[in-house]
Formats: sequence, C-alpha cells, structure tokens
Amino acid sequence: MLELQNISKDLGGKTILDGVSLKVNRGETLVIVGPSGTGKSVTLQHMVGLLRPDQGRVLVNGEDIHAVPGRDQERLRGIFGMLFQSGALINWLTVFENVALPLYEKTQLGDGEIRDLVQRKLEMVGLSGQGHKYPAEISGGMKKRAGLARAIVHDPQILLYDEPTSGLDPVMSRIIDRLIRELQRELKVASVVVTHDLQSAVTVGDRIAMLYEGRIIEDATPKAFMASRQPFVRDFIEAQFGRAAAPAA
Ligand SMILES: Nc1ncnc2c1ncn2[C@@H]1O[C@H](COP(=O)(O)OP(=O)(O)OP(=O)(O)O)[C@@H](O)[C@H]1O
Ligand SMILES: [Mg+2]
Repeated sequence: MLELQNISKDLGGKTILDGVSLKVNRGETLVIVGPSGTGKSVTLQHMVGLLRPDQGRVLVNGEDIHAVPGRDQERLRGIFGMLFQSGALINWLTVFENVALPLYEKTQLGDGEIRDLVQRKLEMVGLSGQGHKYPAEISGGMKKRAGLARAIVHDPQILLYDEPTSGLDPVMSRIIDRLIRELQRELKVASVVVTHDLQSAVTVGDRIAMLYEGRIIEDATPKAFMASRQPFVRDFIEAQFGRAAAPAA
C-alpha cells in the first residue's frame, strides 16, 4: 500500500534521512518513534509527496509519487489523509467549515451531500453538535478530533498522524488512541502514527519503528520492540517507563 524505499534527504546542509525504508499494508498501523528533530515529520512529508527525496522512492499502491506526472500526483495525494502536528485548523472557520473545506475544494458535491458527509465524520470522532464552534472555543483534544474529522472526510486509504496525542492529558490521549484503532477497523485504512508517546505506540501499533539519526534502527511488533536490546531503543523505553521495562530475558 505505502512503501518508502531507501529514502535519503539533506535539508539545510544536514543529512536528515539516510536510507530510510518502511512499509505499511492496508488495515495496518505503523508507528514511528524517535527523538525530537530526528526527521519523523520530514518522513511523513515524503510519504505524502510534499518533500522530494534526494535518493530513493515512495511507492503508493506501487506508483512512485515523485515520478508520476502532476495530475497523477494529485490523485495519489488524494489517497492520503493527514493529521498535522500543529492541528492546522483555520481559526476564522467553524469546526464544520474546517472539516467541509477539502470537499468544497476538491469535489463537485452539493451542499446537502457535504453537510451529510461532514456530520457523519464529526459523529465518528465524537464531535456531533459541536460543528458551529470556532477553534478558539474548543479544547486541545477537540481540536485534534476536528483535525482528524477533516483528515478522513474524503475517505482516504492511508492516514498519517503527526503527534496525535501531544499536548493532551492522559485521559484524552487514550481516547485519541481508541479513535485511531476504531478508524483503522472501520475505514480499513493503512495508518502511520508519529509519536513520542510510547503508551500510545504500543496501543495503536501493529509495528513500531524507531528513527534515530536518519536511520530506522528497529522495526518490530510492539512486544518485540519492548524487548529490543538495541541500546537507543532501550534508552527511549526506559526514559518513559523506567528501568522496570527491562527486556525479557
Ligand atoms: N524545510 C526544511 N528546511 C531545512 N531544515 C528542515 C526543514 N524541515 C525540517 N528540517 C530539519 O530537519 C530536522 C528534522 O525535522 P523534523 O521536523 O522531521 O523532526 P521531528 O522528528 O518531527 O521532531 P519533533 O519530534 O520535534 O516533531 C530538524 O533538524 C529540522 O530543523
Ligand atoms: Mg515532528
């Protein structure tokens, strides 16, 4: 469904990605963890075709998103839904209008159809009845959910989440985790979740990959990841869960 093959990228005179290969299949959730500034968001930007790799290929359903003509690139981008790290809601539009925007921009659907689709997506994320509010009037967790409703409004096949639980309290974080799981099941999407939150990674991931200094140093099931003997992976786990999270003997 989505595959990065040996992606390398220099930005600002520094090598950010150094031969990154990742794969995610339909109905599967891949989590990417790693320290701040290590290139996780840059990796997502390569996936949707917003950044062009210096080397390597990004295959979406077998098509190279950077090699196809412009019109096909648009079509391939339409396969993606993305929840941005910043939320990226437009402040002067209501929640409803924010979610409806991609449909007005990219489809020929009429007002009635758009209204129905938006209502359904707001329901899915637990925001029915909140569509008339402005971003400034809702909490951080609601903003994430509104961003999520917008990300799924055009029924994407691949969903990318950049730090879906950052800045949220643990209760809201677990609600978002559950939502990611539900969407995976209901929409049968392939998902990629970038997070610092190991609890979230273990809950939503079928696989967890760790990006460190531009390379993937681990890519394993949550259970195998937690038992990894890779020193940087151990440091990362122990920083969050303490030394009790020792690898299984
Ligand atoms: N357009 C750009 N031009 C130059 N440098 C960039 C650009 N985008 C990102 N970088 C640099 O690439 C590195 C990786 O950035 P990225 O945003 O992917 O990190 P991250 O792993 O997502 O970090 P965080 O966990 O803090 O979100 C950083 O050093 C950043 O400054
Ligand atoms: Mg980031």
